[in-house]
Amino acid sequence: MKESISKKLAGMTLEEKLCQLTQLDGSFLPDISDTAVTGPMSRLSLKKSDIDSLGSVLNIQNPDSVRKAQRGHMETDRNRIPLLFMHDIVHGCKTVYPIPLGMAASFSPELMRECAEMAAEECKLSGVDVTFSPMVDYIRDARWGRVMESTGEDVYLNALYAAAQVKGYQSRGIASCIKHFAAYGAPEAGRDYNTVDMSERTLREYYLPAYHAAVDADAYMVMTSFNSLNGIPAAANEALVRGILREEWGFDGVVISDYNAFNEMMTHGIAETSEDCAYLAMRATNDIEMMSVNYIHSIKKLIDDGRISTEQVDSAVERVLELKEKLGMFDNPYQHCEQHTGESCILSAEHRALARKAAEKSAVLLENRNLLPFSKEVRRIAIIGPFGDTGEIIGAWSGFGNPRDTVSLKDGVQQLLPNAEVITLRGVDGAINAKADPEEIRKAAKLASACDIVILTLGEPSGDSGEGTSKQNLELPSAQYELFRAVQAGNPNTAVVLFTGRPLVLTTLSKECSALLNVWQPGTEGGSAIANLLFGEAEPEGRLTMSFPAATGQCPIHYNHMNTGRPRADDLHRYGYCSSYIDGPNEPLYPFGYGLGYTGFEYTDLSLSSDSMSSGDTITASVTVTNVGNRVGTETVQLYLRDLVGSVVRPVKELKGFCKVTLAPGEKQVVSFEISEEMLKFLRADMTFGTEPGEFRVFIGHSSACTGYLSFRLK
Ligand code: GLC
Repeated sequence: MKESISKKLAGMTLEEKLCQLTQLDGSFLPDISDTAVTGPMSRLSLKKSDIDSLGSVLNIQNPDSVRKAQRGHMETDRNRIPLLFMHDIVHGCKTVYPIPLGMAASFSPELMRECAEMAAEECKLSGVDVTFSPMVDYIRDARWGRVMESTGEDVYLNALYAAAQVKGYQSRGIASCIKHFAAYGAPEAGRDYNTVDMSERTLREYYLPAYHAAVDADAYMVMTSFNSLNGIPAAANEALVRGILREEWGFDGVVISDYNAFNEMMTHGIAETSEDCAYLAMRATNDIEMMSVNYIHSIKKLIDDGRISTEQVDSAVERVLELKEKLGMFDNPYQHCEQHTGESCILSAEHRALARKAAEKSAVLLENRNLLPFSKEVRRIAIIGPFGDTGEIIGAWSGFGNPRDTVSLKDGVQQLLPNAEVITLRGVDGAINAKADPEEIRKAAKLASACDIVILTLGEPSGDSGEGTSKQNLELPSAQYELFRAVQAGNPNTAVVLFTGRPLVLTTLSKECSALLNVWQPGTEGGSAIANLLFGEAEPEGRLTMSFPAATGQCPIHYNHMNTGRPRADDLHRYGYCSSYIDGPNEPLYPFGYGLGYTGFEYTDLSLSSDSMSSGDTITASVTVTNVGNRVGTETVQLYLRDLVGSVVRPVKELKGFCKVTLAPGEKQVVSFEISEEMLKFLRADMTFGTEPGEFRVFIGHSSACTGYLSFRLK
């Protein structure tokens, strides 16, 4: 421990230490009102001295308030230990880029890191020291509204994106607090906060790797999750937090609970009193208690009763002080809330350009029946639907982003085509339970028929995804389908632009539409990016990192599933004796890795440098990719492996590599991947991580639905 920190620690009373381990909303500070807490949490029983010695706050909305709060705190805290200011900067601070599930479709961890760096630069001018990001929860169930914050259903890709974001934030001086540890993304029935129960194998093989990658990328903080995991709420889960995170992975940073999660131990039914909550949390080594005060109220008695030691408390406080030291807070408590004059990078042309590029790279073209890209010569353009003329497309969890700063789709199209007449009409409301007004539907059809082309915006409002937004039904609302059919009938030159925070069920739409472009929740520059994509200034190159189900009943659905003893096959299916449904397909509507562009690509000449691999060897897998269309295009070439036989059953495919290539019409390129023994390792039956000899199949293709393969044997 640094001498300066040991000195501070030695000078603190127990009460002051416990306040250092407590985080409250900014509104608990004197004269800070730009945030608000309602309900029972606004009535926490606290003394003035508790507030005076508080360790950190969250949710203050601007640097002036942060500066005022810090100044007041430094005058009242006897130890003069600066406050830390934390906030959810999930996909951008003021310049907001697409939601993480959209960013992931870019198949570019580099782009994700660049955007995190941009967000960090804006945080440093906005009073944010720590961001509660990235959310690295592994997910498979689109009914869970927080899939929007994740990067999808692939273990390998999630680990790359987790590390990229942590490095992006922290390389620019903002602490990354990864969340939600652990397995919050696997709630039963896809219902937020619900029970999570899984085998150790599934936990370690699928749900833990991205957290581990983030810890290995030196994440400074980890947030424990609301859910119970195998019977024990994460914040109270000693085996998970102290055992795996700290002792097995060597994490010595700060662990913070989620909002009021300590108190929820009583609701879960694992704690009866505040003392129990404090005891379980401290034993699991949670350092900071967010938005509850069990440490302040109960740790002293636990120490007096010999259930908690002062060393445990001191270790927690030491980690918090070390974090503040690492962030330079003792040298300059105002470093992220100083008054700035002159040019700021916030919402600068450069930042907007990056957000626009990110939105272009994240969009996924799902259908295109020779409609897109539109010609820029069109004169009358109808933009119909609830999301065409609003800044709300910035997305959920949009930090300090302001819809007023967002380029709407209408603005984007008009800016690109200043001489075109752009007419907008909502047609229906975007809410789930919206009712179609026949008069409005009629107006929309009439407008569609009177224009050259139609851009029809459908999907989810931003507020319908994110925390607490689980859905039982992923279909588009019927009112939106009524609008679609009327508009499509009015003008077949209709491109549907889908705004969504999650995979939706688009089975009907996919068959009837002329074109379908999924733009997710595209952020501050969404409108300009979409306009560029629709009119061919940019080419859609996004590839899905989460399967789109053909029906809600398929959820959870994911590409890296096991074969089962009765995989669906035509001969067996006739008699129904296979793993299938009597009322629908097994396959998703759109698989992991899927996405179209404005050109096409052919894969030929798959080859392996050898048909056997000994320990320490590598095998080179190559394929020729040809642009068979008439436009330049970018393809994400994907490498999948299948381990045919193991001491435990193995997935039918696992992504092990990818490479983006941009080819001119007719151009071809040989793309090669090095397959190493490391790629073949898994948790064997005895729960050791390693390889087993046997046959492996190598697929290289356009998505996880690729079928052609070659085999090699690991000796
Ligand atoms: C919320 C979320 C978490 C967020 C925290 C602080 O309940 O679960 O993701 O970081 O509270 O806002």
